[in-house]
Amino acid sequence: MAEIVILDRTAAGELAADVILALVARKPDAVLGLATGSTPLAVYQALAARGADLTDVRGFALDEYVGLPPGHPESYRAVITREVIEPLGLNPSLVRVPGDRGPIETAGDDYERSIVAAGGVDLQILGIGTDGHIGFNEPGSSFESLTRVKTLTQQTREDNARFFASVDEVPVNCITQGLGTIRRAKHLLLLAFGEAKAEAIAAAVEGPVTASAPGSAIQLHPHVTVLVDEAAASRLSNIDYYRYAWANKPAWESL
Ligand code: GLP
Repeated sequence: MAEIVILDRTAAGELAADVILALVARKPDAVLGLATGSTPLAVYQALAARGADLTDVRGFALDEYVGLPPGHPESYRAVITREVIEPLGLNPSLVRVPGDRGPIETAGDDYERSIVAAGGVDLQILGIGTDGHIGFNEPGSSFESLTRVKTLTQQTREDNARFFASVDEVPVNCITQGLGTIRRAKHLLLLAFGEAKAEAIAAAVEGPVTASAPGSAIQLHPHVTVLVDEAAASRLSNIDYYRYAWANKPAWESL
C-alpha cells in the first residue's frame, strides 16, 4: 500500500525535496514527472531554497491545455518555466511538456516515445483534483491510458478558472499523460492539502479501485508516497494506522 505521511504543507515540501535530492544524488540526470497546480509549489519552493545543482535533471510535465495561444501565461509550459525551470535552475531544453512538438494528433505517441527513450520517469510528482483526477485524467479514464488529448469536466474548468479571467477562458481540451503513463513511473509522490481534497484522497488511498476515482490507480503501483495535511487526511478511515506506521518506520528504510 501507499505510504501515507501526515504533515503540514511546509514540512511536506521539505520532505519531498529530501526525496528528490536523494534521487538526484544517486542519479544526476534523474527524470522527474512535473505536476502543475498550487499543491506542488511547496515542493518546488523547498527545492529552490536548497540551491542544489539540478542542471542535468530531465523533466516531463504531466499535462497541458490545448487551444491556448502560444506563450499564454497560464499554459502549463509557461507555468513550468516560471515555477519550476527558472527557480530550480533546470535546463529548459531537458524539460518536455505534452503537445510541445509536432502536430497535436501525434503528440501523445511522440511524448510516450520520448519518456521511454529517457529511460522512464524516476519520480512522478502528483497533485489531485477535487473530482479525483490526476494529471488531467478525469473520472472514467482507463488505468491503461497513455498520453492523449482529452476533454476537461466542467468541474475542473471551474476549479481552474481562478487562473483565468473567467471560466469561459479555460480551455475545454487538454493533453495529459495517461494513468498508464503515470503507473509506469518508478515512484509516485502524491501531495494534497486542504479539506477540499479530503474526499479525493480517501477515494484514492482507500478505494475501491475504480476508473470513477482516477487517483485510485495509485493502489496498483508498488511504490507510492502520499503527503497530506490534517485537512486532506481527515476522511481517511485508517488514519491511526498511517500515523503509527510512520512513527515506527525502520530507520534504514527510505521513502
Ligand atoms: C489541475 C492539474 C492537476 C492538478 C490539479 C489540482 O487540474 N492538471 O495536475 O493536480 O489541477 O490543482 P491544485 O494543486 O491547484 O489543487
